[in-house]
Amino acid sequence: MIRMAIIGTGGMANGHAMIFKTIKGCNLTACCDVVPGRAQAFAAKHGIPQAYESAGAMLERERLDAVSIVTTDKAHAPMALLAIKHGLHVMCEKPLADNLRNARAMAQAARLKKIITAVNFSYRDNPATQMAAQIVASGKLGHIRHVAGSYLQSWLVGKYWGDWRKHEAWLWRLSTAHGSAGVLGDIGVHAYDFISFVVGDIAAMQCNLKTFDKGVKRIGPYVLDANDSFATIVRFKNGALGTLHSSRWATGHVNSVALQVYGDKGGLDIDLTRHAPETLRVCLGKDVDTNTWRPVKCPKTPNMYQRFITAIQSGRAAQADFAVGTRVQAYLDASLRSSAHGGQLVEIK
Ligand SMILES: NC(=O)c1ccc[n+]([C@@H]2O[C@H](COP(=O)([O-])OP(=O)(O)OC[C@H]3O[C@@H](n4cnc5c(N)ncnc54)[C@H](O)[C@@H]3O)[C@@H](O)[C@H]2O)c1
Repeated sequence: MIRMAIIGTGGMANGHAMIFKTIKGCNLTACCDVVPGRAQAFAAKHGIPQAYESAGAMLERERLDAVSIVTTDKAHAPMALLAIKHGLHVMCEKPLADNLRNARAMAQAARLKKIITAVNFSYRDNPATQMAAQIVASGKLGHIRHVAGSYLQSWLVGKYWGDWRKHEAWLWRLSTAHGSAGVLGDIGVHAYDFISFVVGDIAAMQCNLKTFDKGVKRIGPYVLDANDSFATIVRFKNGALGTLHSSRWATGHVNSVALQVYGDKGGLDIDLTRHAPETLRVCLGKDVDTNTWRPVKCPKTPNMYQRFITAIQSGRAAQADFAVGTRVQAYLDASLRSSAHGGQLVEIK
């Protein structure tokens, strides 16, 4: 039985608790949060035996095998390094870290301790994403020429997730001092992961980030300086050219994810807003002459939580481990550097 604990018991941690509780061979035994009382309430809600106000105390006292880190982004690196020091397997929320240096330190520490790691790149849970990666790798689309990816939200416009001015879970996402890399680090990170998972590594990019006027510059301790829209021109190692963009200003979009990949033999199209998550569409073979798109049914795929537990049980690396998380962090880092130089071309080593 794998004894698990959750570090950080805010909004997203509810999903972690509910899913880990359903996974065979996994026992959720403790949780912690720095806000007094928050972990206790969370433990009561999810039936978790122990609750703490510090990860340090929890890791000292509990007998654990693994942790899931669901804190604000800035705490990912210190919490992961602490857990790795205790020899625990670590699943970490995205983005892996608040900067590339910290991401590299986390990956290096995990490698040295030979522990299992995972980053919660949730869009890999989607059957269509896994099938798209298989279709591209099979060569059915031929040489990939052109790619378009996007991830759009609009919580700065619409109040469907509450008023962002009143909730710290939105305010820290708008503040670089609180470790947020803005929309880039929040949802752009998913987009960079799924576009590179499906198409292949990114070799270079030109990115523009934008922080728009919100009518107020500061709310309490939160200075609202993090980016909230970006557009990137992407050059893939396989020679393909693409665009990727994300925004919190995409009015009318709650959480819209889309990816189109076009090769010299066919194309594929994923639209997680309009189609069922297990569906993708392809235009292949004779259909390319008539521009006919057909749905492809995609089999269910294990989610990242299950992949993490399976990796611990088998001793084999999870699909998106800290090495993958570090590669994606390098895309975020390159985006920031490119934008700081007016959208200059930045190569990724
Ligand atoms: N994979 C996904 O699709 C997805 C979706 C939503 C959020 N997330 C990620 O999950 C993380 C949490 O997001 P959220 O929306 O739950 O935020 P949140 O603000 O609701 O919760 C974060 C919690 O972490 C706690 N915390 C901060 N530092 C801590 C520390 N050192 N030790 C213990 N607890 C600490 C805070 O007190 C808070 O309760 C973020 O990294 C976010 O990017 C991922």
